[in-house]
Amino acid sequence: MQRNELVGIYPGTFDPVTNGHVDIIQRGLQMCDRLVLAILVNIDKTPLFSPEERLEMLTVATAHLQPRVQSICFSGLLVNAARQYQAKVILRGIRAISDYEYELQMALMNRTLAPEIETLFMVPAGRYSFLSSRLVKEVFSHGGAVKDLVPPVTFEMLQKKYTKS
Ligand code: PNS
Repeated sequence: MQRNELVGIYPGTFDPVTNGHVDIIQRGLQMCDRLVLAILVNIDKTPLFSPEERLEMLTVATAHLQPRVQSICFSGLLVNAARQYQAKVILRGIRAISDYEYELQMALMNRTLAPEIETLFMVPAGRYSFLSSRLVKEVFSHGGAVKDLVPPVTFEMLQKKYTKS
């Protein structure tokens, strides 16, 4: 890390990566010098994509933002990953007021655990305000069009996933 460099961490499940995620990452890079894109591995629900697949997806989807982004997998507490990568800011996207309560709880818990780390909420472009990984999977699995809502690599990986199973 260079001196005075502001490193942010953008955590998520990324199952799969959407254009909304990439939009927030690009906006986050207007505030932070670098972003660590942190994929949560140990979640209770079973993701459609493995950690390795999500890592590949996120890395390819943000290749145009290199070298200011780094994709990693993490397990356990987010604040531990943030400290490990010297991130001083947790970046989260808020699409609608319905996101806010959960995000506020997480932000306050993370502040309790790590007072030196701030949470930064960012709003995606309006055209992505309805977009979620869950809806992308649901629509795609029923044959709906999601091509314009996800990076090309996500679309390819969705196609592979659903033709395999
Ligand atoms: O994309 P998501 O599913 O909304 O991301 C949720 C995520 C990964 C940000 C959140 O579940 C998380 O940070 N998990 C790590 C565990 C943790 O640190 N919990 C305490 C903070 S509330």
